[in-house]
Formats: sequence, structure tokens, C-alpha cells
Amino acid sequence: MSEAKIYPVFDAIKATTHVTKEQYQAMYDRSLNDADAFWAEQAEEHLDWYQPWDTVSKYDFHTADIKWFAGGKLNVAYNCIDRHLPARAEQTAIIWEGDDPNASQHITYQTLHDKVCQLANAMRSLGIVKGDRVCLYMPMVPEAVYAMLACARIGAIHSVVFGGFSPDALRGRINDSECKLVITADEGLRGAKPIPLKKNVDKACEGTPSVEKILVCQVTGNKVGWQDDRDVWYHDLVDFQETSCEPEQMDAEDPLFILYTSGSTGTPKGVMHTTGGYLLTATMTFKYIFDYQEGEVYWCTADVGWITGHTYLTYGPLSNGATTVVFEGVPTYPDASRFWQVVDKHKVNIFYTAPTALRALMGAGDEYLETTSRASLRILGTVGEPINPEAWEWYFHKVGNEQCPIVDTWWQTETGGAMIVPLPGATPAKPGSASLPFFGVELALLDDEGNVLQGEASGNLAIPRSWPGQMRGVYNNPKRFHEAYFAMYPGYYFTGDGCRRDADGYYWITGRVDDVINVSGHRMGTAEVESALVLHEAVAEAAVVGYPHDIKGQGIYAYVTLMAGEDYSDALKAELIKHVRKEIGPVATPDVIHWAPGLPKTRSGKIMRRILRKIAEDDYGSLGDTSTLADPSVVDDLISRR
Ligand code: PRX
Repeated sequence: MSEAKIYPVFDAIKATTHVTKEQYQAMYDRSLNDADAFWAEQAEEHLDWYQPWDTVSKYDFHTADIKWFAGGKLNVAYNCIDRHLPARAEQTAIIWEGDDPNASQHITYQTLHDKVCQLANAMRSLGIVKGDRVCLYMPMVPEAVYAMLACARIGAIHSVVFGGFSPDALRGRINDSECKLVITADEGLRGAKPIPLKKNVDKACEGTPSVEKILVCQVTGNKVGWQDDRDVWYHDLVDFQETSCEPEQMDAEDPLFILYTSGSTGTPKGVMHTTGGYLLTATMTFKYIFDYQEGEVYWCTADVGWITGHTYLTYGPLSNGATTVVFEGVPTYPDASRFWQVVDKHKVNIFYTAPTALRALMGAGDEYLETTSRASLRILGTVGEPINPEAWEWYFHKVGNEQCPIVDTWWQTETGGAMIVPLPGATPAKPGSASLPFFGVELALLDDEGNVLQGEASGNLAIPRSWPGQMRGVYNNPKRFHEAYFAMYPGYYFTGDGCRRDADGYYWITGRVDDVINVSGHRMGTAEVESALVLHEAVAEAAVVGYPHDIKGQGIYAYVTLMAGEDYSDALKAELIKHVRKEIGPVATPDVIHWAPGLPKTRSGKIMRRILRKIAEDDYGSLGDTSTLADPSVVDDLISRR
């Protein structure tokens, strides 16, 4: 492999950075060699506690038992709001930028405090108490952030479900965690298109025995269905509440939220994060990886429905007292210069987005950049999938005018915060590499037998020690937590990613090694799409794989076998695509349906996905050994149908 380019650290960044190269090395070494002392110092420095912890860390990856700061008491909303009030009551906490380019709003820390307290009181009036689960199915409006913080304030556990998921997908998530309350909006608005959130909730809640109330925020004002004994308008209940609300004193290990994510098997897992360790990871990583400086405006384009919208839109920035932009719209409305117009409009200093958005905007043409200056930008970030060097270079040269370091942040819903990432003032960047581990993160590359690989190597990325932001469990399912993450390589947390370490010790993520596809930076389990397909009456069997896609990174490629007598027609292909969108949501839309009257199976009936991946990639030369197939002729048949 040819040696990658290296971009040195900018002198301008070095001048004010929190962490120089020397400091990084010293802090990193200490974070591993004297871990508990390091984390205790960080927890004291970065968070306000009602009561100190008894033990810094206690964990065992063999039993999947993980605790940080046990016995310590704190409140996340207090840390994200109240503690800033003496100095920053009038500073903007949230800049809301509407889908409509003429709509925006500045919300100060004082207003944020008042709004969150009102909603927290409203939730209490609906009978929500510490430990109850509350589902948030929200568009990107300030109320989405208020709702997360209001839950945190009273100790309710939020479960945010991305507004692009279907009623069925929403119902599954509500039922799995038995949510008592759903907070939603009449509709969302994306690219001038209304998204029927309340309608979807109504449908979902046809089968959700735990749901007592639905709190509905008015966003578009269009008419929605209503059930008087269950539905409550947000403004009717919330706007008249007291603007103060005593925060619940939470144990560091009390759950903060559940967020569902796809795995290689079964239904989505309710990834559970707790209070103290998660908030420390969110706070520290935000400060160091974006090298956040007092007074800066920060914009993360992720939706609150994903982990990035939790850690780096809400908790990380607000815990640091930063100004965070909440954007309701899409990158291409009214046109492909929208991101850059918003950067200029709000003088954004730090900008964090996904490679898929960059590739789409790069494809739209540089003329959309040329009408904006982007002069306020200081730091750029990416997340969600490997960034191809071409997109990296475009981001660096064109978007950042060669003035801004790029932080390529590798992490997962399960890790809570960034794990492999260059620090702007410390780490020279190599386009396409997430570079070096964050403080406290010990990485291992393992071969398939679990042997540790040294030096330059490619292998399975695993982590032998805990860090504060690590997920604590799969909600209500400890067995699944152990099986999914700790059973594969005993003593390690297994990430599911493949990775290469180069001669400089830089890490290059190569993608998932399990049956998870990364579509536009969003995780989709192949099993989920397969289950949706076989629910259709015409489908006998389905096998789904990922394949390289220019914009999305990976696309969804579905091989489908129909029931005997069904007609393999284009009309049915279109119907199946619609069917999957209905079952899971637009995020799961198959890009290709490939008719497969036969699937390549071993004699024991196992589908050989390796072969299906190769055919999807158009790579017939390296199909490998097909002699173990029950019927090798199906391969030729599949190729002829491509
Ligand atoms: O495969 C990795 C990829 O996204 C997966 C995690 O997905 P999710 O839990 O949805 O979280 C996405 C946002 C943190 C990882 O297992 N991934 C994430 N960031 C990167 C990445 N792959 C390469 N480079 C990244 N920077």
C-alpha cells in the first residue's frame, strides 16, 4: 500500500490548544498506567458532583459487569445547564436553524433552564418518575433537546427513536423498553416535506400497552388525529409550568438513556448508557477532540435519533457550556450550499458531519461552495464511516480553505464517545485514518483465533479495558450484552470492526466484519432487512449484503427467492422496496433487489454470504471455493441475472 499523505498540526491551533503532542503522550500514558487516578482527576475537573464516588472503576469483561464512579451522585441536566448559569445565563446555548432558511432562533442558557424545568415539571405531572422510560420521536426542534434534558433532570430514561423509522419499528422499540410516555410532534419538516410523526405514533401505539400519554409538540400546525384521554398538546401542558425544578440526585450508575442499534442478529438492541461515566466521556471528548475554546459556535449535523446526536449535539457541547446548533433541515434544501450558508450565518467555528454528506455535496459541484466564505471555521470533524481520502481532501481544501484540521472520529453507539481520533493540536492527520486512541483507550488487533497481533497488522478491533462511556448493558437483557460483545474474544470488548495499524501506529478502520451494513453512516443489520422482506407474502427467502456505494459508503443489496408460482417482475421489485420502507423506514431502503431462484448454500443449509458479497461487488474473479455448495450451479444462475 502506498504511504499516505501526512498533514502536520497547524501552528495557529498549537497556540491555544488544550493538548499538545507532548501532553497527549503524557496524558495517554498516564491514562493507561495509572488509570483510576487519571479518571478521578478528570471526573473532578470536568463534572459537578453532589457526592463523590466510592470506587473509580470496577469491571470484568468475562462477566460483562461494568461500573464507573459507583456511589457518586450527580445530575446530567444540572451539569449541562445549571452550573453554567452564574457565568452564562445570557449566552446562547442553542441556535436553532429551521428547515426554512428564514427561520432561526437563539436560546440562552437561562431560557434552556426554564424550558427544561417546565417540561420536567409537566412530565412529573403526568406521573413520570425516576427510572420510567420515555420515548422521544421528534424532529430536530429545540424541544427534542429540552426533552432529553428534562428526562435527565427527573431521572427518567429516554429512548430516542429516529423520526425516519416506521410505525412498526417504533412500536418494537417502545415495547422493548416499556415506555410510559411518548413525546413527539404533529409533523416534522425536512426539505419542505412534512414527516407524519404523530400519525406514525398513533399507528405504533395501536399495540403498545405500556404507553399512558402522548405529548405532542406543535411544529407545522397541520391537523392530526387525536385521542382525548391519551394525547396532550405540549403547549397546553408545558407552557404554564413553573420554571424551576429540583434535579434528581442520580447515582453515577443509574441509566441515562437507551438507544436502539442494529446488530448482526435479531432485533435491534437497546444499548444502555448510565449517568456519570457517559457524561464524563461526552464532556471530555467534546472538549479535547474539537479543541473547544470558550465562546465558540459548534455545529453537529447529526439527528438526535443517533448516538452522535446524543453525545455531540446535546450532552458534550452543553456540558462544556458551548453554543450548539440544532438544524432541522437537510444539506440540499433549498440547494446544496445550505450547510455553508448556515456556517456563515451563525459564524460556526467547529463543524462535524458524516462522510456521506460530504460525498453528496462534493458531487453536487464546487459552485455551491463558492457563494460562501466559511471564514469562521476552525475545526472540522467527520463520523460514522471511513472517509475516503478524496472526500477528506475536498473537505480540507475546499470547505476548510486549507485552514482547518480535520478530526476523523471513530466510535460506536456502544462506546458512548469518540475512541480513535486525532487531537487537533497534537496529531498530524493522515486522510482516511482515524489515527490514534483517545485517553484511556487501549486497542488490540486480534486474528480470527483471538491471538494479539503486534506492530503493523490487520485484524479484528477489540478493546481489553473499560472506559467510562462504555455501554453498561442491553436493556433488560444481560445475556445478550455478554453474547454480542464479550463472548467472541474472552476478556475483550469486540467492536465488530476490522482495522489496520500502520508503521506509525495509526489505525485505519476497514469496516464491519459482521453482518452489519453501514449505510450513509447508519447501521443496519442484514438480518433486520431480511426479516422485513420475508414478511411479504410473495417472498420465500432473502439474503442481504452490503456493497460499495459512491455516496452512501455501502448500499443494501438484497437477494430474494420468491414463493413457487410468483412472478419475478420489476413491479414486484418496486413493491418489495416499498414494503421494506414501510416495515423499517426509509433508512433501510434496498438499493438493489436481485432475483435469486436459488441461493448459494452449503450442504448443511448455511447461506454463503461471502459469495453473495462478491457478486454484489461485481467481483466474479475471486469467488473462491464453491465446491462445498449444495448446488454450485446457482452461482452461475445468479451471475446471469445481474
Ligand atoms: O463501523 C464503524 C463505523 O460505524 C460503526 C458504528 O456505528 P454507530 O453505532 O451507528 O455509530 C456511528 C456514530 C458513532 C462502527 O462500528 N464508524 C463510525 N465512525 C467511523 C466508522 N468507521 C470508520 N471511521 C469512522 N470515523
